[in-house]
Amino acid sequence: MPPVFYKIKHTIMQVWKDYQEKNKDRFLNELLDLLRIPSVSAKTEHKPDMIKCSEAVKQRLLDAGVDKAEIYLTDGHPIVYGEKIIDPSKPTVLVYGHYDVQPPEPLDLWNSGPFEPLIKDGKIFARGSCDDKGQFYMHVKALETMVQTNTLQNNVKFCIEGEEEVGSPNLGKFVSSHKELLKADCVLISDSAMISLDTPSLDIGLRGLSYIEVEVTGPNRDLHSGVYGGAVANPITILAKMIASLHDENNHISIPGFYDDVVVASKKERALMAEAPFDKDEYKADLGIKKLWGEKGYSTNERTGIRPTLELNGIWGGYTGEGAKTVLPSKAFAKISARLVPNQSSEKMSALLIDHLQKIAPEYVTVRATLHHGGEPYLTPIDSKAYKAAAKAIEATFNKEPIPVRGGGSIPICSLFEKELGTKVVLMGFGLDSDNLHSPNEKFDIANFYKGIETIPYFHKYFSESI
Ligand code: BES
Ligand code: MN
Ligand code: MN
Repeated sequence: MPPVFYKIKHTIMQVWKDYQEKNKDRFLNELLDLLRIPSVSAKTEHKPDMIKCSEAVKQRLLDAGVDKAEIYLTDGHPIVYGEKIIDPSKPTVLVYGHYDVQPPEPLDLWNSGPFEPLIKDGKIFARGSCDDKGQFYMHVKALETMVQTNTLQNNVKFCIEGEEEVGSPNLGKFVSSHKELLKADCVLISDSAMISLDTPSLDIGLRGLSYIEVEVTGPNRDLHSGVYGGAVANPITILAKMIASLHDENNHISIPGFYDDVVVASKKERALMAEAPFDKDEYKADLGIKKLWGEKGYSTNERTGIRPTLELNGIWGGYTGEGAKTVLPSKAFAKISARLVPNQSSEKMSALLIDHLQKIAPEYVTVRATLHHGGEPYLTPIDSKAYKAAAKAIEATFNKEPIPVRGGGSIPICSLFEKELGTKVVLMGFGLDSDNLHSPNEKFDIANFYKGIETIPYFHKYFSESI
């Protein structure tokens, strides 16, 4: 006879599985409806869609069984809060996610409408399918599963915001003025990726961000490039040279002081990272590139995980319309961002970038550099109760221990939650790096969506049992 706890575990497992199997088509259709709302936070024209989406999220939380759901208006887009408190003395998990999405452009590169979800080859194609509607919705359906099967043993709170993709400008204020409301024993986020369903992984860190914009001005007006060309510095050429000087021949960033605060990963950590499976050829083939690029002395996973980077996100100036125009432009622009690692500070790095661009500007031009937004890097300790519960949950449904990895993206509120609420964040992402986040044809595998819904109840169970 198997021991009794074995039977109990088996029963809960079966109850959850049965409920999810019976309702899986509805779960999927509900997600598709959510994906039909074009909740693009960056564009004013979508303000009504943002309101509509926040109301839909609130209703979905109520339908899933929260006792209370509320929309909090901000200076920007609304924040949706919901809670199911079964007993205030029991552990509480705060689920964070975002219902806003990135702009879908360029539209002509989509194979189907970004807001007309299409199911093909077991994948849901739509803007927000993975980032983050498909992922936060797994938590809504996991809650429903636990409520409907009478198996919820802890309290659950939801904070689903509408401004993550524009740098969460109003969430900080909301968190610091609602500390009691958001009080929890851990924050659980599914807004990142895993290696694959065959090789589950958990992000133990995310990078920070410093995002700036630079404007280079040469002559006081656009000029005829024949009449003046040769005698007046072209701001596009100057900007291009300035940008080219930011990396050296080893692809190190050549801004003095840039690496000063970087915590150098230990040999042990680097050895562990090297164990994560990585197929270079598949990676290159997926991206259509012949050769990988990056900082000398580091592997691809290290370059995106433990090292800071500097990227050009946009560059423009002069004539970019149809046909040709012989112009020597007055201005050139670029959007530049740095990804940061512990212990770099976003504020300090933004100031360093702005300062450096001004310093290297030659006398031919004037440079104005301004800050967009930023966020601090984050690390989840592998020995925290929340991480351990997540690892155990993954093991329960994947039959494999997850590999701890460092994520390259940024979720600035992680460090904020820890600072304001004193709560650790655990990142349990079910996306894939190849899900085309922020790109045309964003997708989320249906299998990953269901796997997330299956795994999340285990997290709640193991976490609440561990504290
Ligand atoms: N979900 C992403 C972050 C992410 C993606 C983390 C993949 C780990 C793996 C999030 O929505 C995002 O896009 N964040 C932005 C930063 C934000 C301040 C605009 C980013 O990383 O560029
Ligand atoms: Mn996201
Ligand atoms: Mn995103």
